[in-house]
Amino acid sequence: MNKLRVLVLMHEDLVPPESIKGLSAKEVAPYKSEYDVSTGLENLGHEVRKLGVSSDLGVLRNCITEWNPDITFNLLEEFHGVAVYDQHVVGYLELMRKPYTGCNPRGLLLAHDKALTKQILSYHRIRVPDFAVFPQSKVVSRPKRLKFPLLVKSVSEEGSVGISQASVVHNEEKLAERVAFIHQQTMTDAIAEEFIEGRELYVGLIGNDRLEVFPVWEMFFHKMPEDVVRIATEKVKWDHEYQKKHGIETGPATNLEAPAAESISRLCKRVYRALSLSGYARMDLRLTPEGQVYVLEANPNPNLEYGEDFSESAEKAGISYEKLLSRIVSLGLAYKAPWQWGG
Ligand SMILES: Nc1ncnc2c1ncn2[C@@H]1O[C@H](COP(=O)(O)OP(=O)(O)O)[C@@H](O)[C@H]1O
Ligand SMILES: [Mg+2]
Repeated sequence: MNKLRVLVLMHEDLVPPESIKGLSAKEVAPYKSEYDVSTGLENLGHEVRKLGVSSDLGVLRNCITEWNPDITFNLLEEFHGVAVYDQHVVGYLELMRKPYTGCNPRGLLLAHDKALTKQILSYHRIRVPDFAVFPQSKVVSRPKRLKFPLLVKSVSEEGSVGISQASVVHNEEKLAERVAFIHQQTMTDAIAEEFIEGRELYVGLIGNDRLEVFPVWEMFFHKMPEDVVRIATEKVKWDHEYQKKHGIETGPATNLEAPAAESISRLCKRVYRALSLSGYARMDLRLTPEGQVYVLEANPNPNLEYGEDFSESAEKAGISYEKLLSRIVSLGLAYKAPWQWGG
């Protein structure tokens, strides 16, 4: 690939230092993906500028008009502290007619709404948990068809925010309590879903029209006590001590026969297209003991940290980290935004 000017767009608080030498893993953790992506792009020979943004679009506009980057590598996950505003920043780049990496605004909008996602997927006859949304200002009233146990979470937050063992509820009282907790803690509406017992699977995909699916990944709970629910809580996802203690790790899914892996791969492509995703994404699935696959959610622009699930599963498919970044940049350049249609 030619040498490009790449603007790496990230949150103001997560702009990494030039070097992380001498820093502990804990110190580096918050901005590790920003560091890995920027360094990877530099290693590919690109001219890289890191730009931190949090609530001022002027900073982005100035950088683009003054420096004229060939592409913006989008790592920004919120604006004004609001997660669902990420789509507007990408929309702004489209309005400026500038290429960017990752998902388009429509895909971000559909996939970041866990209720809308399931409504669309069920239209396509894709199996999803039954659910109900509990808006912030309304009294909790469970539709009778929705049976316990239920899992209560935010309808739009990511990264297991607000998810713990207490998220699985078995009666009306606990449901109301947990919904109130989600409202308070995340300032978003809550969603209660039919709890799906089973294995936890993740699948990475890359592409705009032609899609490539990476090998199915699984979260293992090797030393989890029997009475603890095996779900990706906030602690399971982010607390290294807790992970060590309970033997929590992710890797290629085991004992998945080829036909099962193939049908999961086809399913994930259908989900990607149904939600108008582009660039790259990761699907979160549950596989029941009866062999049924449920789609929990789609994650556009998943974590690109080196050694994390998405890049590890790409590696397993023979795509090195730098090759992965390079592919993501090429897909961003090739993506045809609406302003390019018919042209
Ligand atoms: N309906 C469900 N049944 C069983 N487990 C669930 C369900 N919904 C969420 N979980 C568990 O909670 C985790 C986080 O939920 P998810 O919908 O993926 O939200 P996030 O955007 O925070 O990752 C999942 O990976 C899974 O372990
Ligand atoms: Mg998830």
